[in-house]
Amino acid sequence: MFIPEEVIDEVRASSDIINVVSDYVRLRKQGNNYVGLCPFHSEKTPSFMVSADKQIFRCFGCGEGGNVISFIMKWEKISFPEAVRFLANRAGITISEEEDPVKNARLKELNEAYEINELVKDFYQYILANHPVAGEARNYLKKRGLTEETIDKFQIGFAPPSWDGLLHFLNKKGYAPEKLEKLGVVLARSKGKPGFYDRFRNRVMFPIWDIRGKVVGFGGRVLDDGVPKYLNSPETILFNKSHLLYGINKAAESIRREDQAIIVEGYLDVITCHQAGISNVVASLGTAFTREQGKLLLRYSQSVIMAYDADAAGVHATMRGWQLLDDLGCRVRVVSIPDGKDPDEFIRTHGADEFLQVVRQGAQTLSEFNTDRALEKYDMATLEGKFKIASEVIPSITNISNEIEKNEAIMRLAQRLHLSPEAVRAEVEKKPRTARNTWSKRDKITDARNNNDNRVLGQIASGDEDARSKAEESLLVLMLNDSNIFLKVKEEIGVHFSLRQEYLNIVNLLNEIVENELDYQPAVLFDRLQDESATQVLKRLILMEIPRENMNQVIEDCIRTVKEDEIRKKREELLKRMEEADKARDQELRKQLLLEYSKLI
Ligand code: UTP
Ligand code: MN
Repeated sequence: MFIPEEVIDEVRASSDIINVVSDYVRLRKQGNNYVGLCPFHSEKTPSFMVSADKQIFRCFGCGEGGNVISFIMKWEKISFPEAVRFLANRAGITISEEEDPVKNARLKELNEAYEINELVKDFYQYILANHPVAGEARNYLKKRGLTEETIDKFQIGFAPPSWDGLLHFLNKKGYAPEKLEKLGVVLARSKGKPGFYDRFRNRVMFPIWDIRGKVVGFGGRVLDDGVPKYLNSPETILFNKSHLLYGINKAAESIRREDQAIIVEGYLDVITCHQAGISNVVASLGTAFTREQGKLLLRYSQSVIMAYDADAAGVHATMRGWQLLDDLGCRVRVVSIPDGKDPDEFIRTHGADEFLQVVRQGAQTLSEFNTDRALEKYDMATLEGKFKIASEVIPSITNISNEIEKNEAIMRLAQRLHLSPEAVRAEVEKKPRTARNTWSKRDKITDARNNNDNRVLGQIASGDEDARSKAEESLLVLMLNDSNIFLKVKEEIGVHFSLRQEYLNIVNLLNEIVENELDYQPAVLFDRLQDESATQVLKRLILMEIPRENMNQVIEDCIRTVKEDEIRKKREELLKRMEEADKARDQELRKQLLLEYSKLI
């Protein structure tokens, strides 16, 4: 079913959207566009709009939108390649049925990679269970409280101290060392005579699985205080750290059943939790939680508890992860594990029941969590202290999307700081800087709806979006309309100007189109965007009305807003570093930071 990209482009170009949609919907011309009754939901007044210039459709009633291929997919209820074939047929283009040799070769390589990883895992497992060199490792795992059953269930193994144990084993099975190197289990020698050696030596080995339970990589722990504590597989065709969650294959079912996931930091946290009978637990493979990992979790539950280590790195990772999961629509709670640094230690000293109690009773919203952190840092007795606490916590309240939760957070903060709720609310609701642009002309179609999805640019009413995100949105809408605006923005603030991943994904594709000198036709984006939520964003933005007057002024304003926000962020960062320098009594560093700071004013 593989269809080359050029063929897809050709099919799209030969299928005029007005022409195709007219087969199904009665369209009437209105201004530059065509309108009709939406075929995807029932309605009496037309909110379905098709643009000939942009070759896309959009319904302002139900939110459906896309290009000609998306329209056919939706109408005929068929897959992407089927829709391409359908349109090819209609346009008289033949698509050959040949299999794709490149794809086949890749499939073969993938299969072999899984096969090798499986053998590597078997080898380490065999050594741990049977070989005298693994005596110390067996003791170590016992000391850490892991049972035979757990070691077996988690397929834990041991990499012997020799330089070529694994290499020999796989060589005898007939695998070329180059293949093993590609999978990150052996390394090429850089000095002396050419050859290869084992990457993992003298380490307890934890296989890492994908959702189907296939081994995709390894993490290896030292037995003592050596560094690095864990050595992990490098990125390979199978191992993509940012898309994986350790333990997901064993946790998925119970996450779904309990409708809740617990995220921890480490391999051993997951293993100890599972051993203690708590099986809705996964780890994020190090500290940085990614969007892909969030989306993987979302397949099973929207409710997430973060139980990271209580140290500074853990707190930082919690904040980042929280924001990301909240953006994805998760309900996130944070647990600070009392007395003891991570869930593994806590469970080993206090037991599973007590851990569950902490999770059930101690789960906090981010603003509560932040309040606790801030109360540790500042002196509540002084006005200055209160002010500092409030200013650290309020951003996490402003960002709460649910009004009831927001209200509750305001009340709680007021109570804890002995302030009036009104005072806190006033701070929270301090209007974000209003953008200077005033594009408010709505066209007739948008006027007829009260769906908040059809906001006109620059008119975004909801108070929880700040000036920066408004500016980003306006810029993106304008860029989608005009390649010159794209070029201008790129020149002024680059292509990474947005804080939203969806926007970045869209802008990156626009950039590819420009760099490869392809037709600047945003309809193409619908076929190339891999990311579902970016596609949703694109549907919303692509037919947004753009202002006819003052366009340049609006662009300038938006660019300035983004630039100013970046500077503000830099200043905050510098202030934070100055505080740290103060604490460390590093006068030299402080001076230097102050100088940098003054340059930003
Ligand atoms: P931790 O340092 O908290 O380790 O790192 P841990 O899992 O609790 O291990 P123990 O209890 O000290 O044995 C958390 C996670 O960060 C990644 C690993 O995934 C680890 O499980 N990490 C940590 C690395 O990848 N490399 C390192 O050097 C350290
Ligand atoms: Mn630990």
